[in-house]
Amino acid sequence: MKNVLILGATSDMAQAIAKKYAAEGWGLLLAARNMERLEPVAGDLRVRSNTEILALEFDASDFSNHPTFYASLKTKPDVVICVFGYMGDQTLARTDFDEVRRTIDVNYTGAVSILNVVAEDFEKRGSGSIVGVSSVAGDRGRQSNYIYGSAKAGFTAYLAGLRNRLAKSGVHVMTVKPGFCRTKMTESLELPAALTAEPEQVANAVFHGVEKKRNTIYILWMWRWIMLIIRHIPEVIFKKMGM
Ligand SMILES: NC(=O)c1ccc[n+]([C@@H]2O[C@H](COP(=O)([O-])OP(=O)(O)OC[C@H]3O[C@@H](n4cnc5c(N)ncnc54)[C@H](OP(=O)(O)O)[C@@H]3O)[C@@H](O)[C@H]2O)c1
Repeated sequence: MKNVLILGATSDMAQAIAKKYAAEGWGLLLAARNMERLEPVAGDLRVRSNTEILALEFDASDFSNHPTFYASLKTKPDVVICVFGYMGDQTLARTDFDEVRRTIDVNYTGAVSILNVVAEDFEKRGSGSIVGVSSVAGDRGRQSNYIYGSAKAGFTAYLAGLRNRLAKSGVHVMTVKPGFCRTKMTESLELPAALTAEPEQVANAVFHGVEKKRNTIYILWMWRWIMLIIRHIPEVIFKKMGM
C-alpha cells in the first residue's frame, strides 16, 4: 500500500485531500499540531475507508523536532503534502514583530525545515513526490497581505529550487497555488464565487497533479491568467491601484 504524509492535516484543504487519498486506497499519515482536533478527523476517515490511518503530532514551528519526527515514522511515505499555513494579521504585523515571525515561521521556515528532511530521504530512495501548498499571494507583493505573501513567495522559490535539484534523482516536486478556496482561513472574507474553489476541487487537482507529475498547478484555470496579468502590470500603475 502506498502512503501519503499530510502535514497540517486539520486544515480544511488537507481533510479533503486525505479523503481523496483514502478513497484511492492509500494509507494516511496525518500530522497536525493539535491532537484533539486531529483525532476526530482521523476517526471519521477510519470509519469511511478500509485504509491504514495514523494520527501524529507535528508543529511546523518546532523546527528542532522535525528530523526526529520524520525519523520516527515506521513507514516512510511515498508522497508528502505540506498544507499547513498561517495567514496572519497584516495590520498587526506592521507593529508587532511576533506576528511577522509567526507568519514567516509557519509558511516558510517550518515548511523548509521539514521538507529538507523529507528531500534527503526521497533523494536517497530515488523516488517520491513532495507537494507544497503555496499561494498566488506570493506571485506579487500587495499592501493587503505582503508579510504572508512574501513568506509564500519564499516557499514558492524554495519549491522551484528543490524541484530543480531533485529532478535528476527521480523525485517529483509540485507547487500548488490554490487561488481563493472556501476554508476556515477565508471564512471572514467575501470571496467572488466564480474565483473560489472548494477544498474537494483542490484535493482532486492535487491527486491528479501528483499522478501526472505536474510542476505547478492552479486549481481554477483562470488564476493562471489573472496572475500572469497581475505580474505584468507596470509598478507605476500597480502603486496607484492600492490592492
Ligand atoms: N483558503 C485559501 O483561500 C488559500 C489560498 C491560498 C493558499 N492557501 C493555503 O492553503 C493551505 C491550507 O489552508 P486552508 O485554507 O485549508 O486553511 P485552514 O483550514 O485554516 O488550515 C490552516 C492549517 O494550518 C495549520 N497550522 C497553522 N500553524 C501550524 C503549526 N505551527 N503547525 C502545524 N500546523 C499549523 C492549522 O492547524 P490548526 O488546526 O491547529 O489551527 C490548520 O490546520 C495553507 O498553507 C494556506 O496558506 C489557502
